[in-house]
Amino acid sequence: MDVRSRTIIVFFLLFVLSGMQAEGQTALDVCATCHTNATCEDKTDGSGKVCNCKYGFVGNGRTFCQDKDECQIGAIKICGQHTMCHNTYGSYYCTCLAGYSPSNNMAVFIPNDGTHCQDIDECTIIGLCGEGGQCRNLEGSFDCSCQVGYQIHNGPEPFHPRRDSAFCKVVDCGQPVSGEDTVLQSVTGTTYRSVATFVCDEGFVWRRGDNSSVCGADGRWRGATLVCEEILCGNPPLIESTEQVWNNSTTLGSSVLYNCKEGFYNKGGHNVSICNENGEWTPPALSCQAKCGPVPFLPKSEVVWHNRSVVVHRCMAGYHSWRGSNVSVCGSSGEWQRASLRCVEIKPPINHLFIYNGNCLRWKAEKYDEDVEVYKVTYTGSRDYQRSFNDRGRHFLSSKVDQLELCLNLLPLTNYSVSITAESVRFTATITTNTTLTVPLAPVVYYKEFETPVPTLRLHRLPNTLDPLSLYQVFVLPVEGIMMFDCSSPASLDSSSKIKSPAEYITAQLNVRNLGTEVNFTVGDGLFYGSFYNLPLESGKNYYIILRAVNQWKMASKSCCVLWAKVTGTSYVLRVSSLSAAVIVGVAALVLLCGYSFTWYGNHFFNVKNLSVDVDSQSFGSW
Ligand SMILES: *[C@@H]1O[C@H](CO)[C@@H](O)[C@H](O)[C@H]1NC(C)=O
Ligand SMILES: *[C@@H]1O[C@H](CO)[C@@H](O)[C@H](O)[C@H]1NC(C)=O
Ligand SMILES: *[C@@H]1O[C@H](CO)[C@@H](O)[C@H](O)[C@H]1NC(C)=O
Ligand SMILES: *[C@@H]1O[C@H](CO)[C@@H](O)[C@H](O)[C@H]1NC(C)=O
Ligand SMILES: *[C@@H]1O[C@H](CO)[C@@H](O)[C@H](O)[C@H]1NC(C)=O
Ligand SMILES: *[C@@H]1O[C@H](CO)[C@@H](O)[C@H](O)[C@H]1NC(C)=O
Repeated sequence: MDVRSRTIIVFFLLFVLSGMQAEGQTALDVCATCHTNATCEDKTDGSGKVCNCKYGFVGNGRTFCQDKDECQIGAIKICGQHTMCHNTYGSYYCTCLAGYSPSNNMAVFIPNDGTHCQDIDECTIIGLCGEGGQCRNLEGSFDCSCQVGYQIHNGPEPFHPRRDSAFCKVVDCGQPVSGEDTVLQSVTGTTYRSVATFVCDEGFVWRRGDNSSVCGADGRWRGATLVCEEILCGNPPLIESTEQVWNNSTTLGSSVLYNCKEGFYNKGGHNVSICNENGEWTPPALSCQAKCGPVPFLPKSEVVWHNRSVVVHRCMAGYHSWRGSNVSVCGSSGEWQRASLRCVEIKPPINHLFIYNGNCLRWKAEKYDEDVEVYKVTYTGSRDYQRSFNDRGRHFLSSKVDQLELCLNLLPLTNYSVSITAESVRFTATITTNTTLTVPLAPVVYYKEFETPVPTLRLHRLPNTLDPLSLYQVFVLPVEGIMMFDCSSPASLDSSSKIKSPAEYITAQLNVRNLGTEVNFTVGDGLFYGSFYNLPLESGKNYYIILRAVNQWKMASKSCCVLWAKVTGTSYVLRVSSLSAAVIVGVAALVLLCGYSFTWYGNHFFNVKNLSVDVDSQSFGSW
């Protein structure tokens, strides 16, 4: 309580006391004396009336009631924080300071109902700070700053949009600028956080640092620390056995040519190396190979294929490889590493095969070891004149020896192919041969002596594979003086022949293939036999009947004769010749035998093997 208010209170008390005195002194109409701005009220003790100044006035109630300035004690005290106090005549009211509003939402208030001033949050008003502005509420006020990505223009931060001319504007870093030896590769924009990427300029290579730059909040690009260095490849690699052709440039794209040194040749690959963008020489694949000179020679061999570093050998014809590699390789020293191939002569396991005596084989066995060899001998025979003919045979022979022989049972006048297979080595040698026409087999005749004019003769024969070529000819030899008969000559019918009985003739010719094994033939029956007329015999004359068997093939013929019959008989001499040789026969019976043992059912038994046989004083011939 300051001095002044204390004084007022003292004054007030004095007035009260003096009024009481005056009331006591005078019985005035008190109420009539009250000041306009006072009220007349009953005394509290009921002893009369009293003038009291109205609320908001101070005074004695009669002579003065003066306005009390409530604001005088201070707005904070009377209205509260952030207020302004407005005094009125006899009263006052409160308002809020700028930036505050009364809690009762009225324009003015009197704080006795609890109303107070509270801060207004201006930041709830959208756009208060402008584009990019950031509002900050303060006690009774606010201010603005710029959001990240915006920058203040026209003044400092913070700013007040109504008061200041400052404003926020979006950050623009502008076009990024590339540093030394770098070029801008890409940029996402020029606003805050945009990214620019740099690469090294051509011919330069990234060494260190960051290749990207970011637009900062301050509107500046920052971050690209890319350091590029010129690409230098240094010295190109050295390659064995090569020489370089190089201009000593080590920059990107520089090239080096490699050539093989003297005595070497290019085996293939790239012979150029280039300084690449990694600062490296591209690897030349080049390889140089020593020249080994002419291909090596191996005895009894030939070269199948070669290039300058590899030679493939093989044994020449007639030789075969005997162990070892067949490849020579040019070594790095420039010398051939020769193939170890050895060529040995190939001899057929069956060698010097030939045929002797018409049906015997002889050959030499060429073997690499002492083992027994098994030979399979097969033969097949065929004949032009007899399609159905097919003679086959097979023999096996086991032997260790070097010289071999084998005789086969081959049929006459046949073309044979004979194969010998050495079974263990599966080698086959083949030889062809032909067998000769043989003397025909004589039929068995039943010799007879006749007196009848029409003798019927008999013979028995065995079938033979040469039957298709065989003929039987029946000769009639009238007996007169010295007779000559040549069995072998086809010219028996030829009148010019010297060894021919002048009166002899063929009375019949039979094709053997048409005959059975038993044959009856009647001499002189007057029929034709194979274009020969079987002339009846003259009665009273003596005849010999001779049967000639003939094998005939092309120009060759072989024959064989047998005496078949004698018709009547006196003593005589028959002279028979074979070729130039003549055999004198002076007997009653003559048998001409043809290489086979032969049984004659008569007075004599003959076993004939050779050309001539003597029986007693008689001579017999065989042709
Ligand atoms: C009484 O108070 C009123 C305001 O309430 C004022 O206008 C007037 O002048 C005062 N009268 C006197 C005599 O002081
Ligand atoms: C930039 O550098 C990063 C990492 O260092 C790399 O992954 C990226 O490929 C580079 N970009 C370019 C364009 O060189
Ligand atoms: C020769 O041939 C061999 C085998 O085919 C091969 O490896 C080599 O490279 C060739 N050499 C040349 C010079 O062609
Ligand atoms: C054997 O073969 C030869 C030649 O092919 C042929 O001329 C000849 O007539 C044949 N001989 C026989 C008996 O078939
Ligand atoms: C038959 O063999 C002989 C030797 O034995 C030969 O001279 C002749 O040419 C051969 N004939 C045929 C047709 O093969
Ligand atoms: C041949 O004659 C004999 C006796 O005269 C007879 O038994 C035989 O059957 C005859 N043979 C033929 C093939 O006619």
